[in-house]
Amino acid sequence: MKHFLTTSDWSREELDSMLQLAAELKKTPLNSSLKGRSIALLFLNPSLRTRTSFDLGMQQLGGIAIVLQPGKDAWGLEFKTGAVMDGDAEEHIAEAAGVLSRYCDLIGLRAFPSFVDWSKDREDNVIKSLAKHSSVPVINMETIVHPCQEMAMMLTLKERMGTVAKRKMVLTWTWHPRPLNTAVANSALLMGTKFGMDVTLLCPEPAFLLDSQFMDKAKENAAESGGSLQVSHDIEAAYAGADFVYAKSWGALPYYGRPEEEYELRKKYRHFIVNEEKMALTDNGLFSHCLPLRRNIKATDGVMDARYCVALDEAENRLHVQKALMMNLLGADQ
Ligand code: CP
Repeated sequence: MKHFLTTSDWSREELDSMLQLAAELKKTPLNSSLKGRSIALLFLNPSLRTRTSFDLGMQQLGGIAIVLQPGKDAWGLEFKTGAVMDGDAEEHIAEAAGVLSRYCDLIGLRAFPSFVDWSKDREDNVIKSLAKHSSVPVINMETIVHPCQEMAMMLTLKERMGTVAKRKMVLTWTWHPRPLNTAVANSALLMGTKFGMDVTLLCPEPAFLLDSQFMDKAKENAAESGGSLQVSHDIEAAYAGADFVYAKSWGALPYYGRPEEEYELRKKYRHFIVNEEKMALTDNGLFSHCLPLRRNIKATDGVMDARYCVALDEAENRLHVQKALMMNLLGADQ
């Protein structure tokens, strides 16, 4: 049994095959390959796209989805092994995963990091704990990586570019009033390099570099795929000649858990917004973002409304790639 916790556990060929199936499902959305099958979707954090696309996607394949929000409409969960459960959590993941595995064929989990201690959060132990106790495949719906978003980004690029290898991708940090999860940035770095793109990570200063486990894995990916990875703090040089600009804001890891101190650092960098002038430096490049996005904070109205903005395509493609993923995990993709 295979889980979908990170794309790093899957080969380029396996991911490519899922992307191909996703493209077919986009043309022919309805089938009954998962009739009688079900997925439990556990959301510890809010969602618009992930929740809607998984629920609808399962229905379009003949199955059903059950959405649960532990701590709200389901019992609060404890994930730590050996925890003395005298806090708010009423149920341990050992039982919750065991029970849901008896009812459902798949379990998805969204569990953002705690934003207290990165040395703990970087281990991704919450979803690993679910996977350990589940006897059905587990899907990561965003923890410290967002593999479903990566897949949607890549499907969108393949639709627009055909071949993505050696195309210049700029992953740019953007301004936002508070430190956000690094998951989408980590994932974009992993996916771009895995598929042979020449990736430039643009951020204001070294404090905004991503965790070494993702930087190192991206370098390894690039060495295998023939792509490349470089870091830049120079906005004009990074945008110059880009085929694709992917924007995301994230928190500076050395300041993790200290948002007031981190704000003193980030407040100098409002100019990292994506605007029409910067996009004009690209080689007729595409722009995208995972959404949600604060307009005129992360990107201007002009960028979001431009023909080169493919953020809605990417959001739509979440539906198609997740259907392909569910079919693959349940052996219905043959
Ligand atoms: N991009 C994404 O995962 O969107 P939601 O947070 O709305 O699910």
